[in-house]
Amino acid sequence: MSTEKHLFFRLGFASFPEMKILVVGKGGREHALITALKESPVETEVYCFPGSDAIAPMAASVDVDGLHSLIDWMSTHAIDLCIAGEESYLVKDEGLANLCERVGIPCWGPHKQSAQLEASKEFAKEFMLRHSIPTGAATGCADIDEARAAIHGNYPTVLKFDGLAAGKGVAVCADEASAEAFLNEVLVERKFGAGRLLVEECLVGPEVSIFAAVCDDEYQIFTPARDYKRIGNNDEGPNTGGMGAVASRQLIDAETLKLIEKTIVRPTVDGLVKDGLPYRGYLYFGLMMTSDGPKIIEYNCRFGDPECQAVMPLVQGDIASYCLAAAKGELKSDLLSFDEGWSVCLILASAGYPASSRSGDVISGLDHVDDARVYHAGTMRNADGQWETNGGRVLAVVSGGDDRLSAVDAAYAELDKIHFDGAQKRTDIGRMNF
Ligand code: AMP
Ligand code: GLY
Repeated sequence: MSTEKHLFFRLGFASFPEMKILVVGKGGREHALITALKESPVETEVYCFPGSDAIAPMAASVDVDGLHSLIDWMSTHAIDLCIAGEESYLVKDEGLANLCERVGIPCWGPHKQSAQLEASKEFAKEFMLRHSIPTGAATGCADIDEARAAIHGNYPTVLKFDGLAAGKGVAVCADEASAEAFLNEVLVERKFGAGRLLVEECLVGPEVSIFAAVCDDEYQIFTPARDYKRIGNNDEGPNTGGMGAVASRQLIDAETLKLIEKTIVRPTVDGLVKDGLPYRGYLYFGLMMTSDGPKIIEYNCRFGDPECQAVMPLVQGDIASYCLAAAKGELKSDLLSFDEGWSVCLILASAGYPASSRSGDVISGLDHVDDARVYHAGTMRNADGQWETNGGRVLAVVSGGDDRLSAVDAAYAELDKIHFDGAQKRTDIGRMNF
């Protein structure tokens, strides 16, 4: 082939993407997922709904008003694959995956009926018990009297609102006063709207997040992670969406991972098949490593945030083709491999978070970061073209290393270059042994 012809071929090829993808979401997790899709060897054209200023250069924002308009938009624009980053659309209206199926668009994210594993704590608990998956004992309650009876003076106790509550529907209560306060908010004031409440046994032990790509009766486990949910060092203070995460295959030894697979992951995937719950997408297992063995505390029907930001840089291969094939029913495990090292994700949050959040603080120092990936969670460009805060969790800074502490040090060295008024961070992410 002459050079001229060769060049023509390459240019022509580049302008016709092999895959058009739409990702649902707008946060740091979606920024990380889209970065990984764009780094896949296959030529992609990626869109994001609703998207963000930071994501837009890689994936243009889709400006539609709701799920049905989004489905129409995807059909009109010949989208090859829809990926659910965040969970809310999975259970909205008829469900994202159900509607995609109706118009023939493969969706990486489960059907509405299966996404109840995340949307209803009671549905999830019944599923776990039905399939003998180890978890804490629990009682479903309709009102405050039933809840008080279920607690029966046993503290600490765990109270869980039975619906989506943006990560704020769970309270671990040390005493009656804190339990009464939460019960009042949820069952009397109805802070999260109508819904039941689960009173659950309080489990003790280190927490681990396991992610599996589930495709019908098959699955592949990604790199395990630990997230840091509390706002303060030493896991003190209120729960947040996550203030950091550490990911590595070395986080859990091979024997323990095998046990988790045998007692939790495989029975879950088999249970979905037995119950006729279609599942193609990421499934997140929130686990507690108790002295009685690993137990599940929650399912999420998506990747974790901020765990995704830590895990994705460790994933090598063609994640775009992987998700498309799996959404069509074929799990091609050999398209991916996983780095052996460590990855550390640190979150910078805005003033007031998690009780409130402040927007409009100008962010400086992003240009000086040269040894980390920075994913934007809550930012926007102001009229002067500067980045400013726009939400609770603002930025995720991610660095890697061959060992845990070198990854931690690298991430903190880069994080310290970024500034905005009222910025909050933890200084102990990844520093303690597990
Ligand atoms: P969830 O939204 O279910 O992940 O719960 C949020 C956090 O509450 C978890 O990450 C745990 O730290 C804590 N938690 C949930 N369930 C339990 C439990 N049964 N025992 C102790 N802590 C729990
Ligand atoms: N990292 C917790 C979550 O994604 O729910």
